[in-house]
Amino acid sequence: IGGADMPVVVSMLNSYSGWAAAATGFMLSNDLLIVVGALVGSSGAILSYIMCNAMNRSFISVIAGGFGTTAAAPKAAGGAAAEPVGEVNPILAAETAEMLREAKNVIIVPGYGMAVAQAQHTVFEITRTLREKGVNVRFGIHPVAGRMPGHMNVLLAEAKVPYDIVFEMDELNDDFPDTDVAIVIGANDIVNPAAQDDPTSPIAGMPVLEVWKARTSIVMKRSMASGYAGVDNPLFYKDNNRMLFGDAKKMLDEVLVALKS
Ligand code: TAP
Repeated sequence: IGGADMPVVVSMLNSYSGWAAAATGFMLSNDLLIVVGALVGSSGAILSYIMCNAMNRSFISVIAGGFGTTAAAPKAAGGAAAEPVGEVNPILAAETAEMLREAKNVIIVPGYGMAVAQAQHTVFEITRTLREKGVNVRFGIHPVAGRMPGHMNVLLAEAKVPYDIVFEMDELNDDFPDTDVAIVIGANDIVNPAAQDDPTSPIAGMPVLEVWKARTSIVMKRSMASGYAGVDNPLFYKDNNRMLFGDAKKMLDEVLVALKS
């Protein structure tokens, strides 16, 4: 089973546990167990269905994906990265701030790394500062960004980012060509062009945010390590992409200071 399919599998197994509990309830004539089991089972099934739709997969292909194949399994989740290929263009926080200041349209794509770094409050401050300067800042949220459904939405809401500038992937994926700067904060798999270009990739077919179509994309992460699916990301080596290496919170703090100075 490909790394990117794992969340769906986990959600399906959760659902099965609910149905098993409901079945046990029937055997023990325990109404509470039947009701609670049915709730867990059905909500898990609905969630799995929504996630399958979002990731362009069917239940059957996710479950059967790992059977009968002799090809090497994709690298373990969150573990060692695929060997990097090509050269990347690093950028400094001050240069990032300069680019943002000069931009008219900015799209921010948050991922798991923003949650790890707890950078959402600084993201909000940067957003507010840019909006005060007249920059059109929006957020693009992938359906499986982070590690649970709605992970990014919850963090952004906690940081008081206005709802009306937070969009789902499908709502703004066509807007990247008109975007000056796309900032990727601690995201990796959800912006991996290999999902579209490489049919052999474990994440092939998964819809992704097309940040590479922006005039400039800036990826914030600490190293060249891969994400959850354990695959290398060709985005990092694109000519219009810059890498801002470091902890997301620390780098964003520096960007904010530079923006305000
Ligand atoms: P990932 O592809 O996992 O990438 C996260 C990136 O964040 C990593 O490459 C990591 O790179 C970086 N990072 C980690 N800590 C950081 C920090 N402190 N500062 C800056 N960067 C940091 O995340 P994603 O793009 O959000 O994609 C989600 C993945 O998780 C998908 O593959 C999805 O299938 C899977 N998944 C999703 C869910 C749900 S329901 N959302 C559940 C389970 C799994 P460095 O180590 O180089 O910093």
